[in-house]
Amino acid sequence: MRPDSPLGRRLAARLARWRDDGLLRTLRPPAGVDLSSNDYLGLSRDPRLAQALAAAAAREGVGSTGSRLLRGEREQFDALERRFARFKAAERSLYFSSGYLANLAVLTTLTEEGDLICSDASNHASLIDGMRLSRARRVIFPHGDLGRLARLLAGEPCQGIRFVVVESLFSMDGDIAPLAAIAGICRAFDAVLVVDEAHAVGVFGDRGTGLLESIDVNGVACVSINAAGKALGVAGAFVAGPAPAIEHLVQRARPFVYSTAPPPAVAAAIEASLSIVEAEPDRRTRVRQRSAYLRRRLSDIGLPVPPGESQILPVLVGDNAKAIAVAARLASDGFDVRAIRPPSVPPGTARLRLSINEGLSEETLDRVAGAVGRAFQEAGLCSAVSS
Ligand SMILES: Cc1ncc(COP(=O)(O)O)c(C=O)c1O
Repeated sequence: MRPDSPLGRRLAARLARWRDDGLLRTLRPPAGVDLSSNDYLGLSRDPRLAQALAAAAAREGVGSTGSRLLRGEREQFDALERRFARFKAAERSLYFSSGYLANLAVLTTLTEEGDLICSDASNHASLIDGMRLSRARRVIFPHGDLGRLARLLAGEPCQGIRFVVVESLFSMDGDIAPLAAIAGICRAFDAVLVVDEAHAVGVFGDRGTGLLESIDVNGVACVSINAAGKALGVAGAFVAGPAPAIEHLVQRARPFVYSTAPPPAVAAAIEASLSIVEAEPDRRTRVRQRSAYLRRRLSDIGLPVPPGESQILPVLVGDNAKAIAVAARLASDGFDVRAIRPPSVPPGTARLRLSINEGLSEETLDRVAGAVGRAFQEAGLCSAVSS
C-alpha cells in the first residue's frame, strides 16, 4: 500500500495518535517470572495435558476438517461436553473454539428483538461485542450497582425477555460479583442470568467449577460461559446451561455453525485438565493463598491494591505512559507484568494487572512486591513506599 494513499494516510495518523497517547501495543513473547498469564493452575505446561494432546493428535489427525454440523463432529467433543455439563451441574454444555466466540454466540442467539439486556459496566469486550450484534436493547448499569440493576429491570421497556449479563470474577478489576444477590434479582424479574466465569472456573468453588458453584440459581434460567484457555490451560470455552438453550446454540449460533470445529486433540487435553482440577484441589487453594499473600505485601508497602480474594490484583497507575514505564522497569527486573490501558479499561485508569499462579513461592512474591514498590517510586507514583 502506498503511504500517501487514503488508507495509508489514515492508518499512519491513527498509529501516530495511539503512540502519542501511550496506547500503542507491542507483541512481546513471555519473558521473566509469569505475573501476567491466566495460567492460574500452571496446567498449560503440565506433561499430562501435552501427552493427552499428542496421543490424540496421532490417533485422530490434527485438523477437524469441517464444522461440527458437517464432517468436523467427533465423539470426543460430545463426551467432553457431557463431562463438562456434569462438572458444572448444568443440563448440557457446548464447546466453542474461544471464549470470545462463545460470548458472541450466547448473546446473539438467545436474545431477540424486543428483549432487554442489562449489562455491568465492567463487562469484557467479548460480552459487549455480543450485545452489539444482538437485536435486543442494551442498557448498562454502573459496575456492581444492584440497586440500579433492579430499577432498570423494573422500569425499562421490554416486550420480550430480560437478560442480566455479568462476569463472576471481573477480568481487569479482580473483584467478585455478588452473584447470590444478582440471582435473587433475576428470580424476582424472571430475567435470564448470563455469567461469564472465564477467570473463576478452575480456581473457585470447592470442586473448582467456578463461583456459580455455591450460588442457589433454582428458579433462574442461568447460562454460564467457562473458558478452557485460562485456568484449564488449553483453549476454547464451554457454554453451560439448560438443554433447550444449548440446543438453540447448536442450531443457530453463527460462531458454532459457520466455523471449523477445533482440533479434536484439544478435547483430550481438556479432559486431562478437568481430571487434574478434580483430583488436585491443592492447586486452587495455593493460588488463593498466594494471592492473599501478595495483596497483603503490596498494601503493606502502601500500593493502591483494592481488597479482594481473587488471583487478579490490579495496581492502579492512572496515566498510560507511567503504566508502561512501571511495566518496563519490572520487565528489566525479570518480572513479566503487563500494563493494561484503555480501551481494555476506562480512560485514566491504566494499571498493572498482576495475576497469580500456583507456582509462585512466597519468596518470589516478596521480590515482586519490592520490585513493584521501587518501580512505582521511580515513576513518581508513590513517595513513601517501604519495602
Ligand atoms: C471475562 C472474559 N471473557 C471472555 C474472554 C475471551 O475468552 P478467550 O480468550 O477464550 O477468547 C476473556 C479473555 O480474556 C475474558 O477475560
